[in-house]
Amino acid sequence: MEKEQDFEIHFAPVQGQTDAVYRNLHASMFQGVKAYYTPFIRLEQGNTFRPKDLRDCAPEHNTVPRLVPQVLGGEPEELRLALGMLQGMGYREADINMGCPFPMIARRGKGAGLLSEPERVQALLEVLKEFPEMRCSVKMRLGWQDAGECLALLPALNAAPLSAVVLHARLGVQGYKGETDPEAFGAFLQGCAHPLYYNGDVRTTEDIRAARERFPGIRGVMIGRGLLANPALAEEFEAGQSLAPEERQRRFRDFHDSLLAAYADRLQGDAHLLKKMQGFWEEFMPWTDRKLLKRIHKCSKMSAYREAVNAVFAAERERE
Ligand SMILES: Cc1cc2nc3c(=O)[nH]c(=O)nc-3n(C[C@H](O)[C@H](O)[C@H](O)COP(=O)(O)O)c2cc1C
Repeated sequence: MEKEQDFEIHFAPVQGQTDAVYRNLHASMFQGVKAYYTPFIRLEQGNTFRPKDLRDCAPEHNTVPRLVPQVLGGEPEELRLALGMLQGMGYREADINMGCPFPMIARRGKGAGLLSEPERVQALLEVLKEFPEMRCSVKMRLGWQDAGECLALLPALNAAPLSAVVLHARLGVQGYKGETDPEAFGAFLQGCAHPLYYNGDVRTTEDIRAARERFPGIRGVMIGRGLLANPALAEEFEAGQSLAPEERQRRFRDFHDSLLAAYADRLQGDAHLLKKMQGFWEEFMPWTDRKLLKRIHKCSKMSAYREAVNAVFAAERERE
């Protein structure tokens, strides 16, 4: 029997949400996540990094036990510069994004735009040999428009010195919607020589268990929106039971209030703070009454926002 601790839950990178503030607070308030990933860091024109990306991955701004900085897969030279930068910061691991579906990125042959080009993937992965001290993983999808693409990439992936592969069981053309394809994931698992993580629509502890039962060969699951919705999801899986309703209510409120206080310290002006917190409610507690969520999203003042949040948590107490 596989030991419980051999199965890992990783927190997926979600651009705009899982920044250092969020990751640090989550790790200090909830258990069960073994690794956190930064949203992808990419090179700008002129081969410079965005100051915002550099701040987000700087070791002094990160307190989670294991942080995996992610870089956007593209041209070999870009990867060389990004890995060199991270190594210079003291990192010994990184993840390469081959899954981003945004047209602006994919049309330029980056992110998921790489998946239909095995020769380019192979050339990119050659760069890893120049960084023998870095443990690198790849986060990818089944393909850009056909799930056969990930199988065609197996020789290049298997030959590369990768520490793991994370496979989001969707195609690039699907974006973040539509059905996942666990069968195609299973076919990839059969041929993959590296530790593999399942990703895509894992929302509940039952979903985690189902993925593990269906694919006993996986090393774990990576979860994005499921953890943003229920920050206690990994903790509940590890503990084998759900949080008691009043504890959930209290800890979710604490988490919300801590995020609000942390962003209030960092962001200039109420408009930015409000936008940030409204973004958080795109995923957080999706079981909340739609009218109450709408009230949060319609606020234009912090005072109204605070009242709307109070109303959400009052309703949550009544639900119990
Ligand atoms: C708004 C948004 C931003 C994302 N940003 C990134 C990113 O920077 N890097 C990445 O590898 N994946 C990114 N993802 C994909 C997630 O990491 C994850 O693979 C995807 O949401 C499927 O997993 P989930 O259903 O558990 O959320 C993003 C997803 C969303 C919805």
